[in-house]
Amino acid sequence: MKFFVDTADIDEIRDLADTGLLDGVTTNPSLIKKAGKDFLPLIAEICEVVDGPVSAEVASTDYETMIKEARKISKIADNIAVKVPLTPAGLKVCKELSDDGIMVNVTLCFSANQAILAAKAGAAFISPFVGRLDDLSQDGLDLIEDICTIYGNYPNWSTEVLVASVRNPVHILESAKMGADVVTCPPNVIRQLYNHPLTDKGLAAFVEDWKQTGQSIL
Ligand code: E4P
Repeated sequence: MKFFVDTADIDEIRDLADTGLLDGVTTNPSLIKKAGKDFLPLIAEICEVVDGPVSAEVASTDYETMIKEARKISKIADNIAVKVPLTPAGLKVCKELSDDGIMVNVTLCFSANQAILAAKAGAAFISPFVGRLDDLSQDGLDLIEDICTIYGNYPNWSTEVLVASVRNPVHILESAKMGADVVTCPPNVIRQLYNHPLTDKGLAAFVEDWKQTGQSIL
């Protein structure tokens, strides 16, 4: 399973990249607004920090403007994944870019049928939003299970399931059990994965016992 971080905060990205466990980055217009920096140079900077795919989203909704924005974004770096919404215009742009060998991340997916369309349009990634479905009292993980099952039935489809709108470690665990290819998580959710009280307790005991041996490894 690949780990992407869902943020446009360059300091957070640098910090997580330093762990050696980060495989990519996803951003969206809301995250760019939160970062408070100019979009194009910020995305270029992120692409230099992380080797894997960096998703940067188009801003317009009509095909004519969207394709121009998408082409411009695609030129930022080799590891760019152009992010488009799951709309007829977005999927048309997806097909064109994918045919040209450009990675496309189709976002705002809330149904398995939408995921089928994205795969047919050649998307590199489909982003189903788990947390936003949970917010409506639907089980967002059911959608991940459906998409993983359907994509598994068509081995010639190369679209990766990128679990988005992740809110907690259970979303990651269950997505991994289902065989989802990627999760994109807020930085705090990635950091939560390290934690277990028995790890802390066990380590404290080992440190204390080692001290009492009076030995040194170095
Ligand atoms: C996905 O790429 C989106 O940027 C993101 O996961 C949305 O998450 P949210 O529902 O927490 O805003």
